[in-house]
Amino acid sequence: MIKAITGTKDILPSDVSRWQYLEKLLRETFQLFNYKEIRTPIFEETGLFARSIGEETDIVSKEMYTFKDRSETSITLRPENTAGVVRSFIEQSLGAQQSLNKLYYIGSMFRQERPQAGRLRQFHQFGAEALGSTSPLLDAEMIQIAFHILKNLGLKNLVVKINSLGIPEVRENYKNVLRDFLMDKKDKLSEESRKRFETNILRIFDSKIEVDQTIMKDAPLLIDYLDTQSKSDFDVVENYLTRVSIPFEVDPTLVRGLDYYTKTTFEIVSGSVGSQSALCGGGRYDLLVEELGGKATPGVGFAAGMERILLACENEKSLNLPADLIDVYLIRVDSNSEEQLDVNLKLDLEVANLASMFRRENLICEYDYLNRSVKAQMREANKYNAKFVVFVGGDEFKNGELNVKNLANGDQQLIKIEDFEKLKSLLKN
Ligand code: HAM
Repeated sequence: MIKAITGTKDILPSDVSRWQYLEKLLRETFQLFNYKEIRTPIFEETGLFARSIGEETDIVSKEMYTFKDRSETSITLRPENTAGVVRSFIEQSLGAQQSLNKLYYIGSMFRQERPQAGRLRQFHQFGAEALGSTSPLLDAEMIQIAFHILKNLGLKNLVVKINSLGIPEVRENYKNVLRDFLMDKKDKLSEESRKRFETNILRIFDSKIEVDQTIMKDAPLLIDYLDTQSKSDFDVVENYLTRVSIPFEVDPTLVRGLDYYTKTTFEIVSGSVGSQSALCGGGRYDLLVEELGGKATPGVGFAAGMERILLACENEKSLNLPADLIDVYLIRVDSNSEEQLDVNLKLDLEVANLASMFRRENLICEYDYLNRSVKAQMREANKYNAKFVVFVGGDEFKNGELNVKNLANGDQQLIKIEDFEKLKSLLKN
C-alpha cells in the first residue's frame, strides 16, 4: 500500500469545512483592509530562496526540498512566499503600476522539518506583503490583520510579541557587541549555539537549551542599540497597537529565523498548541527588493500557519461550525420487483428531473444512486441532515402528488406535482 509522504496530511471532507471557514474569513479580512490576492508558482529557482532567506538559516541550509529538473536547473519547492511575491513584484514591475502594493496569498509551503503536532513538511500559510512604503503604520496594520483573524476565530490564548531589529549597520554593530559578550562564555554554549556563534549569532537567542538560555539572560539587547529612525518607528507601532486595543509585549529576543528582516519584527504565539506555538510571524524587509535586483522598495509582511491555527481552534474548542445541511432528499418509492423495471426507470428519471429543478432554485438536493430501499434512503436523508424529504412514487405519485415531509417537526403534506411554485416555497422555508 502506498502511503502519504511523512509530514504531509490529507484534508478529508469531514475536516474541510473548518478550512473553508478559515479561508472565507481571511479573504473577507484582506478585502476589508484592501489587500489583493497574488498567486505565484509553488516552485522557484533555488537561488531565489538562498539569496532572500539567507544561506545560513535553518530553512535554506537544512529544510528545503531542492532538486534538479530534467534540464539540470536547481528547483526548490517554496518554503515560504515572501521571496516568490518579491520576485514577482520585480519581474512584473508591479511597483511601476502602483506606488503601494498591498498583496495577500494562501497556499502550500514545504519544509523538511521533523514532523510533530503543528509542524508538517507540506503545510499551508496565508500571508500578506505590502510593498512601497516605509510607514510603520503598515507594520502595525500587519499585526492588526493577523490579530483580527485569530480573534474572529474565537482564539483567546494569544500573545503578540514585537521587536525591532533596526537597520543593518546597527545590527552589525550590535553583533560585535554580542560577540564580545559571548567570547569568554562561548565554550559553555551548546554545540548548536557554538555553530551559530560563527554563522548567525542572533539566533542563539532562539535556543531552547538551558545552558544557552542562562548565558543569554544577561546578554546585551539589540533594542538598546537602535538607530533613531528604527526607534521612532517602533514607538509608532507600539502607539498604534495601544490605540486599537491590541495587547502586546516587547520581546527583545525575538530575532526570527529569516535573514531579510529590518526594523519591526513580530510573532503571535498561542498557549494552546504545545511547543510549536507561533501562529504567525513577520516583519519589515526594506532591503530585500533591492537585494533581489529590483529598484529599492521597502516592504513589510507576515505569514500564518493554517494547520497550527486550526489546531489552536480545536484545542480551545473555539470554532462551533453548524453541521452541513441539505435542503431536500428525494426518496424513490418503488416496487423493487423485476417486472416493474420500466416503472422504476420512469421514477428514477422523475427523481433526477425534480432534483435538477430544485438545484436550479438553489436548493441543495440529493437522491439515491444505489437502488436502495426506502428505509435505507431515509437513513441517508438523516445522515445528510436533510431539512425535507420528498417521496416520489406510490399511490400519491399515481395521483399526480408528492408527499413532502419536514424532518424537523415530522409534518407531512401532499403537493400536486404541477404546483412547483408551492413545492418550492415550502422547501425554501
Ligand atoms: P515563518 O515564521 O517562517 O515566516 O512562518 C510563518 C508561520 O508559518 C509560522 O509562524 C508557523 O505558524 C507556520 N509554519 C512555519 N513552518 C511550519 C511547519 N513546518 N509546519 C506548520 N506550520 C509552519 C515566514 O514564512 C515569512 N515568509 C513571514 C513573512 C512574510 N515575513 C514577512 N512577510
